[in-house]
Amino acid sequence: MTEDFANFLVRPAEISDSQRIWEIRNSPMVRQHSKNQDEIKFSDHQNWFQQQYFGNTGNLCFVLANAEGIVIGYCRFDFNQPNKNYRVSIALDPQYQGRGLGHWLLSQSLKNIPSQSIVLAEIKKTNPASLKLFEKNNFKTYQSDEFNFYLKYVGE
Ligand SMILES: CC(C)(COP(=O)(O)OP(=O)(O)OC[C@H]1O[C@@H](n2cnc3c(N)ncnc32)[C@H](O)[C@@H]1OP(=O)(O)O)[C@@H](O)C(=O)NCCC(=O)NCCS
Repeated sequence: MTEDFANFLVRPAEISDSQRIWEIRNSPMVRQHSKNQDEIKFSDHQNWFQQQYFGNTGNLCFVLANAEGIVIGYCRFDFNQPNKNYRVSIALDPQYQGRGLGHWLLSQSLKNIPSQSIVLAEIKKTNPASLKLFEKNNFKTYQSDEFNFYLKYVGE
């Protein structure tokens, strides 16, 4: 956890990041921890991504880029209009996991969402790294069931 992250930039996603986000989302390790574990076709992803983050939906997506500018992770905040809350979803390219970069990506992304936002996360009980990551970033478990923990961001 002593790595210097100055070379890793967190920035709002652009449409041109779609392919890298798709590649990361489709990696077997990331799919294993996703709600929908199916492999997604690029054409389906591309339409979804454009509509979801560039279509005035209130959804937000940030990416983490390495020193070469290659996108190695994403952090999405999907806005639920009726409930006025965001659901967060984060993933790193497996090659970059386990170095504290998830913490860097989540903490920087949280600084870029509107203040007072309600942010929720759903984490599989089989995903201890993710649970630790969210707890470290001030998320608290408010509910659990057989499969998942449900957490809420309680702010700085
Ligand atoms: C979840 C994810 C973003 C975490 O990012 P990361 O950079 O790999 O995680 P970090 O290196 O910051 O580690 C987070 C914490 O979990 C701990 N951890 C890692 N693997 C662990 C394991 N198998 N069991 C328990 N703790 C573990 C780390 O030690 C660290 O705790 P610390 O800060 O107290 O040392 C990343 O692993 C990932 O993309 N996973 C696949 C997708 C996913 O699970 N997304 C979350 C769905 S909600």
